[in-house]
Amino acid sequence: MLTGKTALITGGNSGIGLATAQKLLEQGARVAITGRDAEKLEQARRALGPGVITVVADVRSREQLRQMAATVEQAFGGLDIFFANAGVAFGTPLSSTTEERYDELMDINVKGVFFSVQAVEPIMRPGGAIILSTSWLNQVGAPGRALLSASKAAVRSFARTLSAELLERRIRVNAVSPGAIETPIHHQPNQSVEAYRAYAERVGAQAPIGRMGRAEEIAAAVLFLASDASSYMLGAEMVVDGGRAQL
Ligand SMILES: NC(=O)c1ccc[n+]([C@@H]2O[C@H](COP(=O)([O-])OP(=O)(O)OC[C@H]3O[C@@H](n4cnc5c(N)ncnc54)[C@H](OP(=O)(O)O)[C@@H]3O)[C@@H](O)[C@H]2O)c1
Repeated sequence: MLTGKTALITGGNSGIGLATAQKLLEQGARVAITGRDAEKLEQARRALGPGVITVVADVRSREQLRQMAATVEQAFGGLDIFFANAGVAFGTPLSSTTEERYDELMDINVKGVFFSVQAVEPIMRPGGAIILSTSWLNQVGAPGRALLSASKAAVRSFARTLSAELLERRIRVNAVSPGAIETPIHHQPNQSVEAYRAYAERVGAQAPIGRMGRAEEIAAAVLFLASDASSYMLGAEMVVDGGRAQL
């Protein structure tokens, strides 16, 4: 149980972040969620029920991250669990990727994670847990995924280095590494339901387990990494990918 604990989840208005907010609330934690889209945040707040705090914050803005931490400190007094989950995924073929797209992906997935942790670290209580969202793609080479894979490899590395750096403050940093999980990140604009189903079946079949994962299955891993049940884990990566990068 996480009774008395406080948690902050970036990108908590959708997909894995939203499922994790639900899971941590069920365990008795007080939860704050962030995102860029105020309307999606409001929908998430209503779906999650009373006691949830929402903060509009773009992880690319250090000023918004500073305000996010200040809001959480004011509401909760301090933070026990931080899930750096906000991220984007899009293809970046070598021949056609622009510098703008490079910056967009790296600014959100790498710089955003680093400065999110920097912003919340001062309000984290000793004994706290930070969980970073990496990806099965940090381990394999897939065409058109150079930047997404590199961004998640950087985050995997952050779990090690930041864990070492925050050790003296008794804050553990670990990473969760999802495989292909059914969330809005896989939806294309104007895609028909049939086209999405065909895509999901094809991607699911690529995992040895034979299906895409559910957001709740990642939330369960985050709960483990957030709780004292994982008290001997430091700088580690928990892979939850249906065997995609393992078998
Ligand atoms: N689903 C998968 O197959 C999979 C696999 C491996 C890793 N992951 C990782 O899991 C994490 C969550 O993804 P998801 O699958 O749950 O996708 P999702 O449903 O699209 O959620 C992404 C979340 O990130 C937020 N976000 C994106 N850019 C942001 C920014 N600049 N500032 C603040 N928030 C931002 C979004 O909120 P707004 O739209 O409001 O900005 C949204 O809440 C990501 O880091 C992703 O890379 C997912």
